Amino acid sequence: MDDLETQNIELQLLLQAIYLKYGYDFRNYAKASIKRRVQHRMTKDGFESISAMQHKLLYDVSFFETLLLDMSINVTEMFRDPGFYFALRKFVVAELKKFPFLKIWHAGCATGEEVYSMAILLKEEGLYDRTQIYATDMNEIVLKQAKDGIFNISRLKQYTANYQKAGGQESFSDYYVAHYDHVVMDKSLKENILFSDHNLATDGVFGEMNLIMCRNVLIYFNRELQHRALGLFFDSLCTDGFLCLGSKESIRFSEYSDTFEDVVREEKIYRRIS
Ligand SMILES: C[S@@+](CC[C@H](N)C(=O)[O-])C[C@H]1O[C@@H](n2cnc3c(N)ncnc32)[C@H](O)[C@@H]1O
Repeated sequence: MDDLETQNIELQLLLQAIYLKYGYDFRNYAKASIKRRVQHRMTKDGFESISAMQHKLLYDVSFFETLLLDMSINVTEMFRDPGFYFALRKFVVAELKKFPFLKIWHAGCATGEEVYSMAILLKEEGLYDRTQIYATDMNEIVLKQAKDGIFNISRLKQYTANYQKAGGQESFSDYYVAHYDHVVMDKSLKENILFSDHNLATDGVFGEMNLIMCRNVLIYFNRELQHRALGLFFDSLCTDGFLCLGSKESIRFSEYSDTFEDVVREEKIYRRIS
């Protein structure tokens, strides 16, 4: 057995320990990426091997929390992929306007930039008041930041540009109050958002959604876990409900391919058809 195989055993044992001790299930994440994240922490904290981290992981909760942050990759931005939001306005909003009441689920919302972007879009389209948004993530630390709606001012220039490219109709500065080094999102954007923890690997369905966004999350899962998550989305969507995935993700080549039609293929916007 070579070193690589031994490392893979160490990784499996570490993921098993995380699951048994803390209930987070990373066992079906894409191997290469999860291994990179674990090895990054290993090197940073001066451990000689993955198994050398095992004891600390089991007995030091704060070490586990650090590793959880490393492993959950919370990179996000407002109006990420502006073309996607532009397509949402152009091809989906008119359909959403046909429903008397809307339920939207953001699965894997990270620190919430995506959710505030959606809230802004819905306000501008006159849909916000009849919408309930559920924003979930498995990581409670990032969810707390999402709830606070406080973002670093250094990214505002890019967010403003994204908003404009996404078809924003107002001045982006209407939606936040700037303080010294951060901005606080307008309170009215939060009124219809419920933030809660939900793990796509272990938790169940959310009923009767009109639209589900799960962008840049499935990319970290292996096929089996992608299948589980897509099953949750299928079961949580009403017929004719929309599913939005990230630019590198697709419903095609999955077992659910036949149950969704393309709405905007290149932006990964699909609609449940059965
Ligand atoms: C790269 S961020 C994507 C954020 C946002 N959706 C976007 O596209 O900008 C991935 C998020 O998925 C969350 N995540 C990873 N595995 C998850 C799981 N099993 N259940 C729920 N959320 C998960 C992570 O905590 C992280 O916040």
